[in-house]
Amino acid sequence: MAAIKETVSNLIGKITGSAEEAPREPSAEEFQALKKKYTDANQGQVFAFVDELQTADKSRLFHQLSTFDVTRINELADKALNPPKTDDAPATLEPLPSSATASIIDSDPTDLKSWYDAGLKQVAENNVAVVLMAGGQGTRLGSSAPKGCFDIGLLSQKSLFQLQAERIAKLQDLANKAHGVQSATIPWYVMTSGPTRKPTEEFFAEHKYFGLSKENVFIFEQGVLPCISNDGKIIMESKSKVAVAPDGNGGIYQAIVTSGVREDMRKRGIKHIHAYCVDNCLVKVADPVFIGFSASKNVDIATKVVRKRDAAESVGLIVQKNGKPDVVEYSEIDQATAEAQDPQDSKLLKFRAANIVNHYYSFNFFESIETWMHKLPHHVARKKIPYVNPENGEAVKPTSPNGVKLEQFVFDVFPMTPLEKFASIEVRREDEFSPLKNAAGTGQDDPDTSRADIMKQGQRWIEAAGGIVITEEDKFGVEVSPLISYGGENLEFLKGREIKAPALLEKEE
Ligand code: UD1
Repeated sequence: MAAIKETVSNLIGKITGSAEEAPREPSAEEFQALKKKYTDANQGQVFAFVDELQTADKSRLFHQLSTFDVTRINELADKALNPPKTDDAPATLEPLPSSATASIIDSDPTDLKSWYDAGLKQVAENNVAVVLMAGGQGTRLGSSAPKGCFDIGLLSQKSLFQLQAERIAKLQDLANKAHGVQSATIPWYVMTSGPTRKPTEEFFAEHKYFGLSKENVFIFEQGVLPCISNDGKIIMESKSKVAVAPDGNGGIYQAIVTSGVREDMRKRGIKHIHAYCVDNCLVKVADPVFIGFSASKNVDIATKVVRKRDAAESVGLIVQKNGKPDVVEYSEIDQATAEAQDPQDSKLLKFRAANIVNHYYSFNFFESIETWMHKLPHHVARKKIPYVNPENGEAVKPTSPNGVKLEQFVFDVFPMTPLEKFASIEVRREDEFSPLKNAAGTGQDDPDTSRADIMKQGQRWIEAAGGIVITEEDKFGVEVSPLISYGGENLEFLKGREIKAPALLEKEE
C-alpha cells in the first residue's frame, strides 16, 4: 500500500504544481519555449517580473506555469466570461418523475430492511468505498483550518473528521458481526486541495487516523485552476506565483483518476461508492440503506435529498431539466422557480428536493470518467482576488470583485446519465442533514445548530430504545458516540434508565 501512496503524492505534485522545495532549474531553451507559449496566447504578463526573480523563484514559476495548458485556460476563461448567446427555448424544469424517486419516509419497512441488509452485505464483502470531498476553504465559516478539523462544541470535542471516521469503524464492525467475518473494510478516500491538504494530513496523523487503519485512508488532492481577471488575463498573486483556486468539487472526477484512487479501488474490487461533503455533521457515511437501494435499482448514480426548508434556503435542487436529471444550484435559480408552489398542494414548494450532496456511484460508472470528463462545464465565481499589479509590481487587495475563479460542480455529471440509470431517495432531514456552513451566532447551519442536531438525534434514539432523557429548558440532548451506535441500533441496554441531559454516551476504552 505504501507504494500506492507514493504514486499518489508524485502525481499530485504534477497536477497542482505545488512544490515546497525549489524544483529543478529549467534550461534557457525550456524557459524561452514556455514564455513563447504564454506570449502567443496573449498571457505574457505572467513573466512581467521574471528578470527580478532569484533562481529558485524563477524555477518555481516555470514549474507552476508548466502545469497549465494555457490555450485551454484561454478557452475556459472566454467561455466563462462571454457565455455564448443561444436562441434555445428556455429550459423546461420539472421535478424528477416518480419512477426515479423513493422516500425513506413512506417506504415499506420491508423494503428498508432489505436495502439495509443488502448494503451491509456489500460492506462485509469489501465492495464499498467512501469518497469525502474536503477541498473547500470554508470561507463562510470563517475558519482557516479545514472544515473537517472543526470542533462544533460537542461534549466529546470530536471533530467532523472524527465523527465520520467512527461511523466508518462502527459500520465495519456491524458488517463483521452480521456476516460472521472479521475483515470488513471500507476504504476512505479524502479529497483535499492545495490549501487543505497539509493541515488535513497533519490532523489525521496527530489523531492516529481516529482508530482506522492508516492503509485504508487515502488523502489525495484535487487540481487547481488559475484565477482570471475580468478581462481574461491570468492573475499573478506575487511576482513569481500565479493566483490559483481549487477547481471546484467537480474536480473529484479528474482527481480520482490522476491520483491513483480509482486504480486502488479497482485493485480492491470496489463496486459501490458513497461520496459526500465534509460539512454535513449528520452524514450517514456508507449508509447501507443507500447502498442497498442504489444497487437494487442497478443505477450508475443515485442521490439523497431532503425537503427544502423554505424558498430561500441555500441548497441546490434536484430536478429534471429538458428531460434529464440535473441540479439547479442555489446561486443560479430564479425567484419564480424557487417560490413555485406544488400544483397538487399549495403548502409545498414545487421544487423541494434539496441536494445534500450524498451521491452513490457504481464503480462501472467511474470506469467511464475519461469519456465525459472534458464535457463538464466550468462555473464562474466572481471574487476579490489579491494580485500584484503587472505595471508596477505593487501588491493590491481589491475591494470589489476583480476576477473569477473557475469551478466544476460535482453534480454536472447528472445530465449525462440517462434517467433510467439515475435514482433519488428522500431522507429525513433531522437524521441526515445538518450542514456546517456559517460562523457561530448566525443561527442557521452554524456550529450551534450542528451540535444541537447531533444531540437531539441521540436523544431520539435513546427514547426510541426505551431510555428516559431528563431535560430542562436549555439542557437537552445526548451525544451518542458513533462507536456505540451508527444509526440508533443497539441501545436497548438503556431501556428504563434515566439520563440527565446534556449527556455523552461514549464507549469505554
Ligand atoms: C453544496 C452544493 C449544493 C448543496 C449544498 C448542501 C455544490 C456545487 N453545491 O453547496 O447544491 O445544496 O452543498 O450543503 O456541490 N469542495 C471541494 N473542493 C472545492 C470546493 C468544494 O472539495 O473546490 C467541497 C467542500 O469541502 C464541501 C463541498 O465540496 O465538502 C461543498 O462545498 P461548498 O462550497 O460548501 O458547497 P455549497 O455552496 O454549500
